[in-house]
Amino acid sequence: MVTAAAPAIAADPERVRAFLDELATIGADPLGGWSRLAFGSEERRAHAVFARELATLGARVRTDAVGNTIALLPGRDDGLPALATGSHLDSVYRGGNFDGAAGVAAAVETARILVDEGGLRHPVLVVAFAAEEGARFGVPCIGSRTIAGACNADALRAMVDRDGRTAFECAAEVGLDPAAAATARWDLSRVACFVEVHIEQGAVLQDARAPLGIVTVIGGSRRSQLTFMGVADHSGATPMRLRKDALTAAAEFILEVEHRARMQPTAVATVGRVRVCPNSITTVPGTVSLTLDVRDVDARRQQALSYALRDRARAIATARSIELSIEDLSQQSPVALDTRMRRALEDAARSLGRCCLSMPSGASHDAAHLAPHVPTGMVFVPCLDGISHAPEEFADAADIARAAEVVALAFREADRREGPERLPTA
Ligand code: HGY
Ligand code: MN
Ligand code: MN
Repeated sequence: MVTAAAPAIAADPERVRAFLDELATIGADPLGGWSRLAFGSEERRAHAVFARELATLGARVRTDAVGNTIALLPGRDDGLPALATGSHLDSVYRGGNFDGAAGVAAAVETARILVDEGGLRHPVLVVAFAAEEGARFGVPCIGSRTIAGACNADALRAMVDRDGRTAFECAAEVGLDPAAAATARWDLSRVACFVEVHIEQGAVLQDARAPLGIVTVIGGSRRSQLTFMGVADHSGATPMRLRKDALTAAAEFILEVEHRARMQPTAVATVGRVRVCPNSITTVPGTVSLTLDVRDVDARRQQALSYALRDRARAIATARSIELSIEDLSQQSPVALDTRMRRALEDAARSLGRCCLSMPSGASHDAAHLAPHVPTGMVFVPCLDGISHAPEEFADAADIARAAEVVALAFREADRREGPERLPTA
């Protein structure tokens, strides 16, 4: 349990709100929402705001070769491993201003709390990860994968956005050094634990009227692109029986995706992007490419559903004499989070008089890439009506401030308790 004698922990919701309001001035999309895309100039401007805030707290701030911005607040004993927290600042196309940003705002506030009370024995690392959203290049968590040694320059050259631009060239264009991606890898033995605060992106907390969630498992995600190749033809002169319509084949598949995912207890599957060629009113669609995102908190079911849907796509294409190609974009299995970290966060929440809900995360997060190497925890805050990846996304600064207090208290306790050894995993 948390020591009662420790000074009260008090975050300032107004500081959190001001940080998020400043971010909201960056990347607003003329069609609505925000588009602070991975390796875009808006993401860099958002990182500059983060860097400025941490520098004012006395942190040593640097941006690595792939755009992660890392702020180090020295501890009284810098031989100890660091306590780390953070999230991401990029968004999906026309997304919201809180996915990722709320967690970075919380991490900044956690840092302020700890600095205001004189700092800790352990150093504190506050990180804004680069390119967490897979919306642009199909691969999520590029910055945190690189930190964990799971992404390199060649991988960045192979990732392509909807305009045919590679992640490598886009990163170079905003002043990063993707060829030196390997230098962004951390020595994770120097990190005692990592905690990410994030909006829930669902409505479980709101429905339960719970102010905080402690994440048990981060859902996996298998993303691929399927291309149905039929024959473009005249929409007036081509009899129905002679058509090789790529769009009707894709449509049959898309309904199968929904049907089969609905039959699963915890899986979700989404066709989020469809590109029709030539996309013309008087031409039978010749080629259709679509993205498929299959997710589950159970690794075996996620894999089984992915394979079943691929088999169905092949069967539909064969029955319609349509060609089909399937390209893997990214694969992430579900990740169970460290029970000891969960307990530390639950204890901190309880000591602050806050109830919290243990819950899975349907969304994927940067924390999933640190979790295999470092004791990792996640704290969820409610978001309005569970909406996310959309302009209406919203989270209350008071909830985010509360989450910052939980992390600050958990770090203070870890600091008081732990010696030079890492926080042992459960
Ligand atoms: O797509 C996700 O699950 C996360 O919001 N990047
Ligand atoms: Mn996110
Ligand atoms: Mn997201």
